[in-house]
Amino acid sequence: MEKRKLGYSDLHITPVGLGTWAIGGGENPYGWGPQDDNDSIKAIQRAVDLGINWLDTAKGYGHGHSEEVIGQALKGRRDQVILATKCGILWKEDGSDIYGHLKANSIKAECESSLERLQTDYIDLYQIHWPLPDEDIEEGWGAIADLVKEGKVRYGGVSNFSVEQMKRIQKIHPIASLQPPYSMVNRGIEKETLPFCTDNQIGVIAYSPMQAGLLTGKMTKERVAAFPTDDWRKGSPDFQEPRLSTILNLVDALRPIAETKGLPVATLALIWVLHQPGVTGAIVGARRPDQIEETSQTMELVLTEEEWAAVNARVAECERQLA
Ligand SMILES: NC(=O)c1ccc[n+]([C@@H]2O[C@H](COP(=O)([O-])OP(=O)(O)OC[C@H]3O[C@@H](n4cnc5c(N)ncnc54)[C@H](OP(=O)(O)O)[C@@H]3O)[C@@H](O)[C@H]2O)c1
Repeated sequence: MEKRKLGYSDLHITPVGLGTWAIGGGENPYGWGPQDDNDSIKAIQRAVDLGINWLDTAKGYGHGHSEEVIGQALKGRRDQVILATKCGILWKEDGSDIYGHLKANSIKAECESSLERLQTDYIDLYQIHWPLPDEDIEEGWGAIADLVKEGKVRYGGVSNFSVEQMKRIQKIHPIASLQPPYSMVNRGIEKETLPFCTDNQIGVIAYSPMQAGLLTGKMTKERVAAFPTDDWRKGSPDFQEPRLSTILNLVDALRPIAETKGLPVATLALIWVLHQPGVTGAIVGARRPDQIEETSQTMELVLTEEEWAAVNARVAECERQLA
């Protein structure tokens, strides 16, 4: 698989990385319903076998469970992957909710616990998960810079930061990457953020490129209605009317174009993200090996100019309807 340089760093990533939020499981307000750890381990190992060379996780995913499963799945294969994890989101003691916390001593303690769960002695990319609270982003970023000096972390990155927030912290230490949401139906980063990242050698790894499963071509209203209570998507506006129908109509409009190329809509949605200027990679969530096999089957731009224009016209029409 092709590799792309991540921002100013020496990390060379495949266009697709495996996202492991869903692998953290359910039974928490930000879970994805029941998840079988054996499926998760097979999905991770299959991704690496397919040549995908990076994984994204976070302490916040299932109270660290996602990191634990990755540690188990990668036993003996740590050196084959670039590990990206995140800090700065803590769980309330009763597990009922999360909150942002960026004090330096807390981030350093989080790093130690992530290293343990991941069964490694270094993290390739350590990212601040959310810029919360805003007044502590400099302190949190300073802690990441210290961890780089100590050799526990190779590069620092951020997620969900605005351009203004990135400008504030880049004076302290260079930013290797930004992890923002980006998909055919969530294009908020195009005007300001992507050009800023390109100009500042900040790699962009897009999250939820299939809009949490909505753009896979497999999501149906019946499936959404049957989501278990511990699947966070049950409460997401995108999975409720009128947005749900608008997004599923886009999928129906894209299906014939994808089919002429022998591709699932999911792959078309990923290819679209990966071909936008400024995007380095896409973090693709999967909970079973067959999902990552299907979505990552090609990242080549297999469309003619006319087909590409037709896709973009449908995406623009959907954007107008969602506005
Ligand atoms: N930094 C942040 O704040 C942040 C926020 C969100 C995500 N992320 C990262 O980005 C990653 C990806 O985002 P995401 O997981 O939200 O969404 P996504 O990649 O857009 O969608 C992933 C989901 O789509 C479904 N799916 C995947 N492949 C499929 C296939 N071939 N056929 C049918 N369904 C398929 C699976 O859920 P079902 O099978 O249950 O439908 C899977 O969990 C996360 O895992 C996480 O690492 C970061």
